[in-house]
Amino acid sequence: MGTPTIGILGGYGGTGKHIVRLLLEYADAHLVIAGRQILRARQFARECNEQAGTERVCATYAHAAAPESVMHAFDGARLLIVASPTGRFTEETATAALETGCDWLDIQYYTPKLAVLKGLAQRIEGAGRCFITDAGLHPGLPALLVRHAATYFDVLEVANVFAAFNPRGGFPRTPSLYEFTRELMRFRCGAYRDGQWRFFSGLGAGEGQQTDFDFGFGTRLCTPMMLEEMQALPEMFPTLRETGFYVAGFNWFVDWVVMPLLWLSGRVAPRLWVKPMAQLVYWGTRLCANPPYGAVVKVQACGWQGEQKHQLSLQLYHPDPYLFTAIATVAGVLQYLRGRGRKTGLWLAGQLYDPQEALWDMQRMGVTVRQEVSPIQGMCPFCRA
Ligand SMILES: NC(=O)c1ccc[n+]([C@@H]2O[C@H](COP(=O)([O-])OP(=O)(O)OC[C@H]3O[C@@H](n4cnc5c(N)ncnc54)[C@H](OP(=O)(O)O)[C@@H]3O)[C@@H](O)[C@H]2O)c1
Repeated sequence: MGTPTIGILGGYGGTGKHIVRLLLEYADAHLVIAGRQILRARQFARECNEQAGTERVCATYAHAAAPESVMHAFDGARLLIVASPTGRFTEETATAALETGCDWLDIQYYTPKLAVLKGLAQRIEGAGRCFITDAGLHPGLPALLVRHAATYFDVLEVANVFAAFNPRGGFPRTPSLYEFTRELMRFRCGAYRDGQWRFFSGLGAGEGQQTDFDFGFGTRLCTPMMLEEMQALPEMFPTLRETGFYVAGFNWFVDWVVMPLLWLSGRVAPRLWVKPMAQLVYWGTRLCANPPYGAVVKVQACGWQGEQKHQLSLQLYHPDPYLFTAIATVAGVLQYLRGRGRKTGLWLAGQLYDPQEALWDMQRMGVTVRQEVSPIQGMCPFCRA
């Protein structure tokens, strides 16, 4: 097989441009970047080619809502990476990828797309295509980290994932901020406890968990947030009594003013409120931001190795959350290109990739990884048993 071509829709956006630069450095592939602004796409492709000293990146026009433009842009590509905030056009874009005969990988934080992709699952399978959804950091890493932790235990009992995000300068005011805000407006609070999924009303007040982050983030109270990729974990690891994904707050203004408003507006005419709420998220994360900046994701787990109970704590950190997202995405793409990460059907990234290989790739692309495994004497600090 010759050098593959990878298409990146939104390849000159905040995350897309990092994905392109990483693929240039770590993968042997031709890249086609596309979006609605052909001049911006061309300019970025030129910069990349000049830096790399090759002509591996080319630019073209595509609009996620227009399947013909997507088919035309990515004709001949082996894989289409969707790095654009176009979750609402998933049907159009995914159908175009199927028509073109290319595989799919998306990083969008947009839960309604999952129902659309599930509706296409039979077609994906029948066509022998590999569709990977929810790749990246969040979604993307939490289930992968639990699967990594599970390899250290004969009996895994508790595995909770925590994350703190704090982009320097706040979240940029781009179209993806609307997608992100809309998700914050509709997210469900829930976690797996005592052997069953529990859902909490409101913003899950009283159900949060505290954890100690390294890298200057300190002790934070985190809110349980349902993620699709976590839902299969109790089935994968039947001894698991507790698992969940917990997110730390941003700053006092966003946590105590913006989040309650987001929750409320998500229940009353959400469409009307998305833009004003996105402005609040923008200003709130910008004006009230304080260091440390970056993103840290942590899994803390406990279970048994033989007769001895052990605890595991693993933390991943990068000072730039967008670059971190791109690194997590590209770690998966590298597995896909090696063949191990390509399986026919529809997959959630966190449930597909090999965790050890992904961690190794992320580390060499610049993510700091800290892991401690130790025997527990006395009461377990994680499950208090
Ligand atoms: N999984 C994770 O951990 C994670 C983390 C961060 C972000 N994300 C997701 O990543 C996606 C991109 O976020 P971002 O912050 O990088 O976005 P961004 O900076 O706003 O960039 C968006 C890119 O997509 C293109 N685009 C927008 N609308 C388009 C359309 N209708 N058709 C074709 N291209 C279009 C834009 O170019 P034009 O405007 O010129 O078309 C731009 O190149 C979002 O869906 C976000 O939810 C996921």
